[in-house]
Amino acid sequence: MPDRHILILAAGKGTRMRSSRPKVLHELAGLTLIEHVIRASIPLDATTTTVILGHQGPRVSQVLTNNPSISCRIVHQEQQLGTAHALLQAEPVLGNKSGTLIVLSGDAPLISSPTLSALVETHEQSTAAASVLSSVIERPYGYGRVLRDKRGQLIGVVEEADASAVQRKICEVNSGIYTFDLPPLFQTLKEIPEAGPKNERYLPAILQMYGQRKLPINVTTTDDPHEIRGINSQSELAEVRTIVRQRKNEELMASGVTIEDPATTYIDTDVTVEADTVIHPGVFLEGRTRVGARCEIHSGARIINSTLSDDVTINNHSVIADSVIKAKARVGPFAHIRPGSTVGESSRVGNFVELKKTALGTGAKANHLSYIGDAVIGSNSNIGAGTITCNYDGVNKHQTTIGPEVFVGSGTELVAPVTIGRGAYIGAGSCITENVPANALALARGRQVIKEARATKIRKNPE
Ligand code: UD1
Ligand code: CA
Repeated sequence: MPDRHILILAAGKGTRMRSSRPKVLHELAGLTLIEHVIRASIPLDATTTTVILGHQGPRVSQVLTNNPSISCRIVHQEQQLGTAHALLQAEPVLGNKSGTLIVLSGDAPLISSPTLSALVETHEQSTAAASVLSSVIERPYGYGRVLRDKRGQLIGVVEEADASAVQRKICEVNSGIYTFDLPPLFQTLKEIPEAGPKNERYLPAILQMYGQRKLPINVTTTDDPHEIRGINSQSELAEVRTIVRQRKNEELMASGVTIEDPATTYIDTDVTVEADTVIHPGVFLEGRTRVGARCEIHSGARIINSTLSDDVTINNHSVIADSVIKAKARVGPFAHIRPGSTVGESSRVGNFVELKKTALGTGAKANHLSYIGDAVIGSNSNIGAGTITCNYDGVNKHQTTIGPEVFVGSGTELVAPVTIGRGAYIGAGSCITENVPANALALARGRQVIKEARATKIRKNPE
């Protein structure tokens, strides 16, 4: 098999997005557009992957280098003078290579690995010097149209801006995805003339030139009109987002997940959910979230980069980030589980409870109105309503350690650093500033004073 090399065009500004963010860094279901494209290319098993960057190149290259699953080489295109000019910038790194070059567009994130494999395999098995992926779509506006002669042979591609009224009616479009034999690619690229309203060098022009030189060209047409979709505007991004979301929801439902209302369920590409979990309307599962089997996630929940074991219940409007919720635990409604927290097996976090970097032990409970930060809470302990860990002294954060089987009365302040021993009791309303030994009772509050009939007196004589 000849060597395969991949090249991704991603230097353009994306003017039509009207955004300060480089186009290929717009986010789609938890990944940037360019990450989707690179992912789809991984099964091709290429020897090298080159990304052409230009507009805000360093910002894009930082995202790529920060992703450990991506290994690519960056080539800069100083001025964006067109897709052919962009590809030509790779000559110093690919000019002396042989084999096939697969060219992808950084703004076409729906391309699938099987379609790419089909394009490349057909190319490799044929005598073609170039292969292009096309698709027949209902709304071809904005795409380069595929021009064919009477025998159906491709004779070129005409861009929207340069097309005649008749050509604009053609519904077969260029995907911007190609496979080329490496030689004679770069030599021909140099000969592509400037064209169009912006005097750009168009990569699709190479097809016409190959045709004129009698170099064979293949066209592979995909049946899925979505796969080739390029994103040029915010509105196209939203349309593609809807497609990606529907596909993810379909995939999960096919594997036994109940999604009550797919239209309002937002699940990122990398999220996994096991069978018999029920997801109510208006739920967001983001990033690398993993959800076990038989969980129930109620409306308004947003779960980011977190792991839920089996049989977990997340009640309405809870936000959970970078945390672990163990089996049979129940969280919310209106709970906020902040990064670095673990909610233990069968434990319970109730309404208006915030956890941060806190491990709640097996069977422990914090049912109402609490802030628990930088704490470890032992198994089966009960944290009363309105408990607050005072973990911050204005400069540093301090730890609160509560053993198993502890009862913390309502309205307690735990001034960290502080340790409460196993089985201790804390009286309601205490402000605990010192460690409490195991099985002790701690009371730290003012004594109550009673003045008989004083209320009556005040009412009669307010002064
Ligand atoms: C391009 C094709 C069009 C095809 C469509 C599919 C050309 C001239 N037209 O049009 O036939 O139907 O894609 O989506 O190729 N880029 C660079 N450097 C440049 C210019 C562009 O790297 O100088 C990159 C862009 O970042 C983008 C890709 O090339 O990722 C395509 O460029 P874009 O301007 O979006 O081309 P389209 O007008 O969509
Ligand atoms: Ca485009």
